[in-house]
Amino acid sequence: MEITVLGNTGLKVSELCLGAMTFGRETSEKDSGAIMDTFVEAGGNFIDTADVYSRGTSEEIVGRWLSDKRREDFVIATKVRFPMGEAPNDVGLSRKHIMHGIEQSLKRLDADYIDLYQVHAWDPLTPIEQTLRTLDDLVRQGLVRFIGASNFKGWQLQKALDTSDRLGLERFVCLQPQYNLLSRATEWELLDVCAREGLGVIPWSPLRGGWLSGKFRRGMTEPPKGTRIELAEKEGWSESWANYNNDFTWEVVDALFAVAEQAGKTPAQVAINWLLCNETVTAPILGARNMEQFRDNLGATGWRLTAEQLETLNRASTMAVSYPYDSGANWQRTRE
Ligand SMILES: NC(=O)c1ccc[n+]([C@@H]2O[C@H](COP(=O)([O-])OP(=O)(O)OC[C@H]3O[C@@H](n4cnc5c(N)ncnc54)[C@H](OP(=O)(O)O)[C@@H]3O)[C@@H](O)[C@H]2O)c1
Repeated sequence: MEITVLGNTGLKVSELCLGAMTFGRETSEKDSGAIMDTFVEAGGNFIDTADVYSRGTSEEIVGRWLSDKRREDFVIATKVRFPMGEAPNDVGLSRKHIMHGIEQSLKRLDADYIDLYQVHAWDPLTPIEQTLRTLDDLVRQGLVRFIGASNFKGWQLQKALDTSDRLGLERFVCLQPQYNLLSRATEWELLDVCAREGLGVIPWSPLRGGWLSGKFRRGMTEPPKGTRIELAEKEGWSESWANYNNDFTWEVVDALFAVAEQAGKTPAQVAINWLLCNETVTAPILGARNMEQFRDNLGATGWRLTAEQLETLNRASTMAVSYPYDSGANWQRTRE
């Protein structure tokens, strides 16, 4: 695995980030530890978790694993924003919840500081000035090294960056968006903002929760038993069977299998490599239930899809757009 730089920070991270969302949920602590060990052996140093993953258990598993390691060797990312309790202030990006959130995350991670503290999504109830000033305080206090945003829209990200600049506060150094072959709307505005503003990009759900893992094929009538997608259907999550069992998905999956066969790689490796080939992307965040899946996904590095293979994948996965994302408002410099 290669080491790259997170946006404009100078912070060095592995080109794959390890996602800890399954830890303490479908993946036991023992298996989670083995996955983290394997990640490190492969050259990884970048781990992403969140306070809400298994209501804190994921952070605790990462913290216990880290306890006999050299803390400086790792870049640990976590998040705040979603509900951690039932009380009115157990949620959001207010000063009150962020100050409580960081204290609790540090305890669970058994750490003195967090490398990348991310807001998990926009909070419509809290002024962005308050959120950014609080995050800036955390950096000044040495509790946080860098701050990041996740699940923002284009205008929200630009507004946050401009607010930081206006007030002289720390700015978000990276975006964690959903981005994969089935979800390319992230390209419409967000990747432009990141490229122009020098932000790193760490895509979540590179396999769209399993849809691009190779276990889904055209002609299936239901998700395989015991998978995330089966659960998503029951729980009404966005990656549900109902939301993705459509022609667009099967076109993308057909192209994925065709390219995988040609490249001599697995579908999961191809889907992740497609992200690695995008120069705006810093590090896709891998998700895995077990070691077998994780080893498969690690095989996404060390090679590159050809231009022709990228074209096949891009053609199948291009989503229909209308104004202002079509050519109507897409002025090239030379036309102005
Ligand atoms: N910021 C956010 O809002 C947000 C949201 C989601 C995730 N994330 C971050 O992104 C990370 C990755 O997200 P994700 O878990 O959704 O990633 P993903 O790679 O899209 O999906 C992972 C799931 O796909 C299946 N899978 C993965 N590799 C496979 C393989 N090689 N063969 C067969 N099946 C395979 C497994 O589910 P089954 O075995 O159940 O099929 C696995 O749990 C998370 O850990 C988290 O850190 C962030």
